[in-house]
Amino acid sequence: MSDSARLQLGDKTYDLPIVVGSEDEHAIDISKLRAESGYITLDEGYSNTGACQSAITYIDGEKGILRYRGIPIETLAEHSSFVEVAYLLIWGCLPTKEQLDTFSELMTKHSFLREQIRHHFEVFPPGSPPMAVLSAALNSLACFYPELLDTEDVDVFEEAAARIISKVRTIAAYSYKHDMGHYLVYPHPEKNFCENFFHMMFSEPYKDAEPNPVLVRALDVLLLLHADHEQNCSTSTVRMVGSSGANLFASVSAGVSALWGPLHGGANVAVVDMLETIQAQGISVKDYVQQVKDKKAGIRLMGFGHRVYKNFDPRARIIKTQAENVLAQMDIKDPLLGLAEELEGVALEDDYFIERKLYPNVDFYSGVILRALGVPTRMFTVMFAIGRMPGWIAQWYEDRFITHGKIQRPRQVYTGPTEMCYVPLEER
Ligand code: ACO
Repeated sequence: MSDSARLQLGDKTYDLPIVVGSEDEHAIDISKLRAESGYITLDEGYSNTGACQSAITYIDGEKGILRYRGIPIETLAEHSSFVEVAYLLIWGCLPTKEQLDTFSELMTKHSFLREQIRHHFEVFPPGSPPMAVLSAALNSLACFYPELLDTEDVDVFEEAAARIISKVRTIAAYSYKHDMGHYLVYPHPEKNFCENFFHMMFSEPYKDAEPNPVLVRALDVLLLLHADHEQNCSTSTVRMVGSSGANLFASVSAGVSALWGPLHGGANVAVVDMLETIQAQGISVKDYVQQVKDKKAGIRLMGFGHRVYKNFDPRARIIKTQAENVLAQMDIKDPLLGLAEELEGVALEDDYFIERKLYPNVDFYSGVILRALGVPTRMFTVMFAIGRMPGWIAQWYEDRFITHGKIQRPRQVYTGPTEMCYVPLEER
């Protein structure tokens, strides 16, 4: 294989270097193309554009492979924990027992919110979208920790990372409690990451929540499966904001905003809304699939399709098995699981979905687990954000301090009017 590609424009040829990744992925480096030829490349939605070189997460969308730092997601889901995966993503290797304990202790130490931040929640009207509250609260952390804005020092960065991963869970639980009009429950230093989430969400002044270990493990796996997914919309947002030199709090807050949309993390809410609509209106699954295929109807099968996975999403397989296990072990009957399975069965046999390589993605079954955990639908995307936080932080750090990425600034092909005269107001 040649180490360069040749591009012919008119009577001139340009040799473009080929970059090869560790999994033999090939990319044509066009970074000097404009300077040498005057041309830019156009790739709306960046479907075919590599924005960076990264050593964190590997995906092969054709084969349904997902690995964090080289370790398959199936292995991590079986043997690891969310906190260990957070360490792995950020620091690039599995921690020793001592490193894991220190990292966990750092998170326990920094799980509390300053009392002034607690008062923040009072200014949001009841019913505020939890993703808006989360994004605002994360950004506001920069006001409370000015000493953590300069993250060039590794210890400072580690403290900022631990604070964010830990506090995002506290913020999520507080926003839920505030919305319910309930009193806010402080984190408990004796509880682990996921137990603490249940504690802050569901404990009452007179009674501590005692979640079943099956549910605690299900949450741990769910968060771990969401922990990173290379250059998706929200992660690219985090890297882009960070590339300007913006601090970690501002960058992950922007990631939350990007994740909110229904085509990205918001799909887990949209899936449950869709299943509830089908159930409430008594539409048959076949009829619903027909509606989805009719482009004029303007609806998509939410939780289906992925920009990268064109065979299957390995996370969806694990989550589906988890959802079935959790419901069986907890003896919960959720008709939405049956409905989702029926919908999946019909869609996977339909030519429309087969031709377009549309398969269930991570969001298709995650809602079933979250419902079993007692998390309200409107909080689902917040749960995704809690899980994705280590990935955003690892990617931000890599861009700033490992690969020293340039400020991200795409170009465009301008299609507006050519030079026009300014017409004074009285003459218009
Ligand atoms: N239902 C019906 N048709 C679909 C769906 C779907 N869920 N997804 C894609 N298609 C169709 C499109 O209409 C298009 O058809 P056409 O070729 O006839 O025009 C074709 O499949 C290709 O779709 P694109 O939108 O070009 O694919 P893209 O890669 O840009 O979009 C996306 C990927 C956004 C995930 C899309 O599949 C989608 O909207 N899915 C539903 C929302 C969803 O589940 N999002 C979560 C993704 S996972 C995550 O972010 C965590």
